[in-house]
Amino acid sequence: MGDVLCLLLTYTCPHGRLKMKNARFAWRGLTRYPRKEIGTRLCARISNITPLIRMDASRWFFFIYYILYTTYDILSPMIGIFDSGIGGLSVLAKIREKAPNADVVYFGDTANAPYGTRSLLELKALTEAAVELLLSEGARDIVSACNSVSAFMTLSESGLLASVPFSITEMTRPTVRALARDFSGKKIVFLATPATIASGIYARGCAEADLDGTFFAVSDLAGAIERGAPREDIRAIVAHAISEIPRDTDILSLSCTHYPFVSDL
Ligand code: DGL
Repeated sequence: MGDVLCLLLTYTCPHGRLKMKNARFAWRGLTRYPRKEIGTRLCARISNITPLIRMDASRWFFFIYYILYTTYDILSPMIGIFDSGIGGLSVLAKIREKAPNADVVYFGDTANAPYGTRSLLELKALTEAAVELLLSEGARDIVSACNSVSAFMTLSESGLLASVPFSITEMTRPTVRALARDFSGKKIVFLATPATIASGIYARGCAEADLDGTFFAVSDLAGAIERGAPREDIRAIVAHAISEIPRDTDILSLSCTHYPFVSDL
């Protein structure tokens, strides 16, 4: 099979065709020998030219393989998703619905979770490290499935935008866009981690989109979900957060990707 492939490749490439001409010439030459010698001489001739064919063909084989691989890589890029932990899995589930065949690499930075209580400086470093890791794993499109680091994903001066070959998607801008489209004029409350609220990214987004938004930082909810805290503890955190929300609120935006996992509480 390998030899057939080599011969096919040799025949289809310009340089290889020369070799095939030689092979045919050699074949014609053989008819001058007595029948019983033909087998032996044919074997000898084939073994003489086979290394040549193999050498050329393998070079062409790798060349064609490289072209096909590069084309495939460009046409079907891998999506790299990251979050502090399991929160981004809620985003991964949605991506799977939209692009069921996409290759995905997921990084949950559980060693450094939760992100939501970290300083902006720490988050900047963690974001850069996560993006670097995903790129080194072959990701071409990056999805930051973490609201807490969105402020860094959108900063053009951070250098992240330049290092990602295709696209960067973060959570806050699409959320604000969707809310502005569907709930303009409504009173919207954003529940998010302390880091997300402190970055002011939702406040700025709402001001730009002319949305009526109020913002609440929920301490330790994402952390409790991440470490699998008892349901009762999580219920207590949620109850406390809900008690602070104004009664005339129309829409509650769960602006941390961990929160949908406890939306039933
Ligand atoms: N799930 C992330 C977010 O959307 C991070 C939560 C955390 O680790 O505190 O903000």
